[in-house]
Amino acid sequence: MNALYFEKFGDREVLQYGKIQRPKIKQDEILVKTEYIGLNFADIYRRRGEYYIEKHIPYINGYEAAGVVEAVGAKVKNQQIGETVLFVDVPFANAEYVAVPSDRAIRLPATIDSKLAASVGLQGLTADFLAHDLGQNIRDEKVFITGISGGVGQLLSQILIADGLAVYGSASSAEKKSLALAHGVREVFPSRETDWVESVEGQFATVYDGVGSTLPQSLDLLKHRGKVVFFGMAGGDPIKVDPVTLMSESKSLLTGDLWDYLTSYQERKLRSERLFNYFEQGKIKISEPTVFSLADGKAAHEFLEIGKSIGKVLLKP
Ligand SMILES: NC(=O)c1ccc[n+]([C@@H]2O[C@H](COP(=O)([O-])OP(=O)(O)OC[C@H]3O[C@@H](n4cnc5c(N)ncnc54)[C@H](OP(=O)(O)O)[C@@H]3O)[C@@H](O)[C@H]2O)c1
Repeated sequence: MNALYFEKFGDREVLQYGKIQRPKIKQDEILVKTEYIGLNFADIYRRRGEYYIEKHIPYINGYEAAGVVEAVGAKVKNQQIGETVLFVDVPFANAEYVAVPSDRAIRLPATIDSKLAASVGLQGLTADFLAHDLGQNIRDEKVFITGISGGVGQLLSQILIADGLAVYGSASSAEKKSLALAHGVREVFPSRETDWVESVEGQFATVYDGVGSTLPQSLDLLKHRGKVVFFGMAGGDPIKVDPVTLMSESKSLLTGDLWDYLTSYQERKLRSERLFNYFEQGKIKISEPTVFSLADGKAAHEFLEIGKSIGKVLLKP
């Protein structure tokens, strides 16, 4: 089969495309023929050697894809050949075929096709746990999202708006700003400028920060008793935070990793159903994903890495 792989960590030039051996499935696994593969910021960190990546010679990046079940192991009960499934936490996804543990495969309802599923799977399940497990916001509260028109940002903002919150955020271009406003975001501030911060300091019950380098600003935006939900560092590492300073203003810092919220078949099923429900009810709209051929992996990494993308970047085998 063809795959996108690399032999040593480094910049996008280490990526290679070519033939490697197709995986063999175990009794509790299914073989998925991928249709769309999700590219995520974590894949950039992994390629650079900054994030955990499953051992494999050569390294094969990617943990998210949607595709068709081509074969099932003897002990598999939850999937059948021919069904379309999504997975968001299975290694070696940058390939034409992936061996997927049966409990990690999410069967897609007829209303969600493989392109939509791969476009919203990992980022949507992230937005869901950020909104509902970590955020636990009260209706009408004001919340802020850094990088609001990124993949997670777009989905999170629409979930929070559908849940009845007043959503604000930051973005770096006029195009990203209009996209967020079109989704119902109240106001969008320029993410690479800071002169607006003072005017809205101390106003937000929750600030969602996936940019990282913005953490001090996010803490300033919080009102007393508010919380920053810190979930990534697309813009660079955050500063160290002093808990005593936080305590003096009753501010909290919450963090979480999606993989700790997807620990069983049942949890994946319930969380994905809750996410898909927003789409089925027309409460979330996404911008058209940018699709690169899997063979053009280098270009796809560059596109995501330099912050050009609006919404999801997909790889097509
Ligand atoms: N904790 C978890 O479980 C989990 C799961 C998935 C993703 N994440 C994290 O969530 C964050 C967002 O992920 P995503 O998939 O939505 O990524 P994305 O689509 O690339 O969005 C990231 C946003 O960050 C902003 N940004 C600010 N400074 C940047 C810089 N120097 N370089 C690039 N972007 C910059 C950009 O918005 P502007 O240009 O408009 O400012 C961009 O739209 C990432 O940090 C990712 O690692 C965490």
